[in-house]
Amino acid sequence: MTDKLIIFDTTLRDGEQSPGASMTKDEKLRIARQLERLKVDVIEAGFAASSNGDFESVKAIADAIKDSTICSLSRANDRDIARSAEALKGANRARIHTFIATSPLHMEKKLRMSPEQVLEQARQSVRFARNLVADIEFSAEDGYRSELPFLARVVEAVIDEGATTINIPDTVGYAIPELYGNFIKTLREMVPNSDKAIWSVHCHNDLGMAVANSLAGVKVGGARQVECTINGLGERAGNCSLEEIVMAVKTRRDYFGLDVGIDTSQIVPASRMVSQTTGFVVQPNKAVVGANAFAHASGIHQDGVLKARDTYEIMRAEDVGWSANKIVLGKLSGRNAFKQRLEELGIEMESEGEINVAFAKFKELADRKAEIFDEDILALVSDESVTPEKEQYGLVSLSQHSETGERPQAKVVFTIDGKEFVGQSDGNGPVDASLKAIEAHVKSGAELQLYSVNAITSGSTESQGEVTVRLQHSGRIVNGVGADPDIVVASAKAYLSALNKLQSKADRVAAQG
Ligand code: KIV
Ligand code: ZN
Repeated sequence: MTDKLIIFDTTLRDGEQSPGASMTKDEKLRIARQLERLKVDVIEAGFAASSNGDFESVKAIADAIKDSTICSLSRANDRDIARSAEALKGANRARIHTFIATSPLHMEKKLRMSPEQVLEQARQSVRFARNLVADIEFSAEDGYRSELPFLARVVEAVIDEGATTINIPDTVGYAIPELYGNFIKTLREMVPNSDKAIWSVHCHNDLGMAVANSLAGVKVGGARQVECTINGLGERAGNCSLEEIVMAVKTRRDYFGLDVGIDTSQIVPASRMVSQTTGFVVQPNKAVVGANAFAHASGIHQDGVLKARDTYEIMRAEDVGWSANKIVLGKLSGRNAFKQRLEELGIEMESEGEINVAFAKFKELADRKAEIFDEDILALVSDESVTPEKEQYGLVSLSQHSETGERPQAKVVFTIDGKEFVGQSDGNGPVDASLKAIEAHVKSGAELQLYSVNAITSGSTESQGEVTVRLQHSGRIVNGVGADPDIVVASAKAYLSALNKLQSKADRVAAQG
């Protein structure tokens, strides 16, 4: 047993399975680069066989990222596994992650397979994968609700076939820390070849215990890999949060006695990037990355911290990447300075043309906003109108009139496949009127499920407003994000961005985990 804890990030796979969190290839690549800067050991880049889009994203990440192992999820069948291997060809270090459910409920009701058939399929799939890459992870889906003797037989068989990591997920977030820790411990004791693999935990947060369960899996169960996501993003109530696991193990090294290779100063930038890309806002009181995580409001606490920091602080804000909002650029900054800042933020543009469009947008923003922060630049490049040729809908201009006692009116000029259209409407407020003006023409029929506004940089009314719009249509849920100093314009951008996502011909097959 080593004293290193492997951090396996699944933001781009399990995290992306959150309703509305689907990301484009470019967005995933940008996040993968940030995960590499964070020094995560393994990046689960996607589920290559689920769609052509996912295949391309895994491939792009495998080709670009050199420091982390790149992993692709596959069901336990040859087609999925071969597709993962194909997507991972360019990786420095490639991992195939294959899974099959082992709980009585899943085997009988979902897979309609007998336990012996499941055992055989698990064995076959690891044997097949082992001929393609050396690093194989096997997951027993719904592992925690499986019967220990059967699970032990499956795990022993797949280790014999060459699985190098064994992951025991609490797929439905049902576990309790003490019970989960003991479950992993007992299972390891029951598997005769358990020392030939690294044991891993993967916990969902349905009862709010994903982090506690994962830590118990490590401390009591002896697991040496934790699967987690930035901001705890994930199916339903989410996954185990990377920032909480890492900071718990580091802050309480006295208790866990384990090392993690993470560069913690990259945690907050990673959190912001994921939040801005997906439109999933981080709650202010979220541990480590919430806006209030290091804010001391009570006089007694403030007094204590001023006298001796450790009276009320167990971690240092700067160690996890909190710094005062950094003014990076302004009106007079040139193209080179802008390009360099993009590079420093890990943002790679595909062409000089794309940089030119982004730079023009930056200049436009700098004319209206004196100080440009990193967050503004991130929002600017997340804005799909930077790559208009790739998008169906784009905003050209917006005007609206609102006056106390009058019903607001809006006129929105936008493009559909490059052709200009004008929509006009009234509404309850200027935002309502603007979105109705677009919808009056587009007639998408999508249902608005969520609308939220957030200030990108806190503490000033000069901040850009970042709007998230969630639309649902024919069973698909997408989030669109738009940013602008004018929140009505930001709202129109967010609405058009969501329409673009609805239009994309994504043929994703949802992963089962
Ligand atoms: O939750 C789960 O069981 C999963 C597996 C596919 C690893 O995500
Ligand atoms: Zn999962």
